[in-house]
Amino acid sequence: MSDYRDVNLAHWNERAAAHAASPGYPVAQLASDPAALSDVVAFDRPLLGSLADQRGIHLQCHIGTDTVSLTRLGATMTGLDFSDKSLYEARAVAAKAGADVRFVQADVYDAVAAAGDGYDFVYTGVGALCWLPDIARWARVVAALLRPGGRLFVREGHPMLWALDDERLDALVVKYPYFERAEPTVFVSDGSYVETDIDLRGSTTHEWNHGLGEIITALLDAGLTVTGLVEHRSVPWEALPGRMSLRPDGEWVLDEDPDRLPLTYTLQAIKTVISYG
Ligand SMILES: C[S@@+](CC[C@H](N)C(=O)[O-])C[C@H]1O[C@@H](n2cnc3c(N)ncnc32)[C@H](O)[C@@H]1O
Repeated sequence: MSDYRDVNLAHWNERAAAHAASPGYPVAQLASDPAALSDVVAFDRPLLGSLADQRGIHLQCHIGTDTVSLTRLGATMTGLDFSDKSLYEARAVAAKAGADVRFVQADVYDAVAAAGDGYDFVYTGVGALCWLPDIARWARVVAALLRPGGRLFVREGHPMLWALDDERLDALVVKYPYFERAEPTVFVSDGSYVETDIDLRGSTTHEWNHGLGEIITALLDAGLTVTGLVEHRSVPWEALPGRMSLRPDGEWVLDEDPDRLPLTYTLQAIKTVISYG
């Protein structure tokens, strides 16, 4: 079997151009309206607060629509992704939007060597952590990227959502692991999570879930202090097709009793400042 990175890289490279052309990503809106934000960053904004004069890195930035949006909140951004085709689209998105973003091609685990350190904040999520086999290693990378006092901001699919059978329409059924395992869960899927006319078939991915306790413990072990954890009843993609409705803000919610399940969470943590004497 090839390395998980080769398998997943092929999947993402195949999707980058389709995503840039899809109405599911706000490429046209960012280009035509200098004040526009992606729905994802607009959702995050109340918890993000001002990013004026801050230097940030967006891990797994994909085609850069959220990265560009973060520059519109005042940040100087680096976007990092291992997919050359995603970064090709990201550079085009930033150029059309008039945004000055540095894009770096690297695996997340090599982020410090590739993109440097001393960042005021690390931003990531919306389908990012599931591609990484080892959450403790990820947390150490985040800690190494941040300056002392710097902030991690993650908004991610909830591990309980990732554990559900997304093909069952009659009930919420747990099918996949909640906890991190050494072996990946292997999926073969057609299409994409956004609308596209491009024929995408039979793509294999290797993915991992990480429990909420595992994520928080990994961050604490890496020297971060958790400052906020908010669970949400909505998710920015149609995670359980056939059972969700789209809100005007671009978020999907369960049709039936949304209080049953958190669909995403926002986790914030600060790199602890060590004071001597
Ligand atoms: C669903 S996208 C991230 C979501 C992003 N917020 C967006 O714009 O939708 C996942 C991204 O992770 C990247 N990725 C997956 N595994 C990676 C790895 N090991 N290192 C760096 N990037 C990775 C993929 O290339 C892809 O662009």
